[in-house]
Amino acid sequence: MKQQFFNEDILDVPIEDESVHLIITSPPYNVGINYDKHEDNKPYQEYLSWLTEVFVHLKKKLVNGGRLCINIAPTGIKKFTPIHHDLITNLRNEDYNFVGEILWYKQNMKSRTAWGSFRSPRRPYVLPSWEYIYVLQKGTFLENGESKKEFVKPDITSDEFVRFSDGFWNISPETAKKGHPVPFPEQLIYRLIKLYSYPGNTVLDPFGGSGTVAAVCAKNGRNSVYVDISQKYHEMAQNRVANLKSKCPYCKSEHYIKDGKRRDQISKPFEDYTGLPCPFLTQRYRCKSCKKQFTHPLVE
Ligand SMILES: C[S@@+](CC[C@H](N)C(=O)[O-])C[C@H]1O[C@@H](n2cnc3c(N)ncnc32)[C@H](O)[C@@H]1O
Ligand SMILES: [Zn+2]
Repeated sequence: MKQQFFNEDILDVPIEDESVHLIITSPPYNVGINYDKHEDNKPYQEYLSWLTEVFVHLKKKLVNGGRLCINIAPTGIKKFTPIHHDLITNLRNEDYNFVGEILWYKQNMKSRTAWGSFRSPRRPYVLPSWEYIYVLQKGTFLENGESKKEFVKPDITSDEFVRFSDGFWNISPETAKKGHPVPFPEQLIYRLIKLYSYPGNTVLDPFGGSGTVAAVCAKNGRNSVYVDISQKYHEMAQNRVANLKSKCPYCKSEHYIKDGKRRDQISKPFEDYTGLPCPFLTQRYRCKSCKKQFTHPLVE
């Protein structure tokens, strides 16, 4: 698997057209967060036009059928700002198909800071304890490989499919990781990757931050493209992925060797350790400690 890292403005990164199967991202919300290199307090219309321009540009990078998952929420307490409605309307006008909405319930009402006119209808504030993931698509179905040889099986289990296709996702937010103010929880990205991509697909996060998408891709057999304008966050994300260890799934030893034959070269097919039939072009490995064979190292 290939994990690429770019420390640039997303509008300047040289990503090949039609090379990305899935985009998962949380853009800056324009709420004055103290990011390392981004001014998070622009006039609203300027902010909205910029964000729309970014996603229109990224549509060229998606393969036909590729999905864009945007994590976004309305902002402001006294001055409620429905960015989610405005942005999604703009993107529908730019020929993105709106194919899904996930409600990410963050269970964070305990940290509530404003009531408005408490116990009075004069001006109460309703604070959302959730955010959204909007799923937009370029074209219709995501093709699985260009030729039969590249065809791979999906890796989502039946239980996961049933649970994840209920669009109410109860996931605690990640606490600010050392050095980044608003990282994603890994579970959120895991679910999106499993639902919307095949093993071996390429996933882009144009606002990569602490590198959550890159890390979850590395752990789950997807290629990834990370972009962030901040050199500090870029280094942090690269270290995060470099520090992941690839291990034998049985005894967790880091010592294993390539076993020579790929699955498509052996006559008798075998199941991998997850119990799922493995993709056709998978390499076989053998653990030096427990001697067992496997097709996917465990990355953690
Ligand atoms: C909400 S944070 C993303 C956090 C990320 N989801 C994570 O798990 O850590 C938004 C990120 O966008 C980056 N950013 C802002 N403007 C950018 C631009 N023009 N190009 C690339 N990255 C940018 C910021 O540096 C910040 O890290
Ligand atoms: Zn082992």
